[in-house]
Amino acid sequence: MLFLLLAANQSNIFRIKMNGDASSSSSASMMNQNLETFDPELFAVVRAEKKRQASGLEMIASENFTSRAVLQCLGSCLHNKYSEGQPGQRYYGGNEHVDAMERLCQSRCLSAFGLDPECWGVNVQAYSGSPANLAVYTALVEPHGRIMGLDLPDGGHLSHGFQTPRKKISATSLFFESMPYKVDPSTGLIDYDEMERLASLFRPKVIVAGVSCYSRHLDYARFRRACDAAGGALLMADMAHVAGLVAAG
Ligand SMILES: Cc1ncc(COP(=O)(O)O)c(C=O)c1O
Repeated sequence: MLFLLLAANQSNIFRIKMNGDASSSSSASMMNQNLETFDPELFAVVRAEKKRQASGLEMIASENFTSRAVLQCLGSCLHNKYSEGQPGQRYYGGNEHVDAMERLCQSRCLSAFGLDPECWGVNVQAYSGSPANLAVYTALVEPHGRIMGLDLPDGGHLSHGFQTPRKKISATSLFFESMPYKVDPSTGLIDYDEMERLASLFRPKVIVAGVSCYSRHLDYARFRRACDAAGGALLMADMAHVAGLVAAG
């Protein structure tokens, strides 16, 4: 929504320039205006949201209060730049500083997780966890290939292939065929035996070991066994919620 509003404003600026209705100095001053002056209506919405965030409480584990420094990066001139591709291999020119930033981010990530750059690569381009998961499936699984993840009502995440009997809710169940594994309702623990049995029948290409709402450690060895039972599925760890703990050792 914010994007659409800002895009509309940008095209107005463009029209004003094209029509010659505004001098270059007045369009320059428009470009330098604060949001409060440029679009008071939108500014009021942003201010209301800031107040809501300060005074309300939603206990959503994957939301966060971004620091001022991060907000400054997001609102900087970096926002203006196209940078498809990888550092040093972009589709557009003018990416030397974006390349430097992305390489810095990758090397900081490797050192935060204590990883050997000879063995590990880092992709820092996804906006957040859901598009990151879609990117992983797209890279590893052919269209309509099979994935398995913990069912959403059992503590899994939408992006692990969630669908209901009537509707494919997540794009990850629309573009890939998904089968859920579940918790044992009597213990609340992942039913690893059943997961392995289902994996041997469904033969997914990827099994996702990852949770949004599950209070125990995952048994990665059992996941590996289920992957082997599927005939050599890839094991994907979606560690969205525990990444900080992993980095901290
Ligand atoms: C395990 C897991 N993976 C992926 C995501 C998606 O992250 P985002 O909502 O930031 O795209 C979440 C969100 O809570 C999650 O719990």
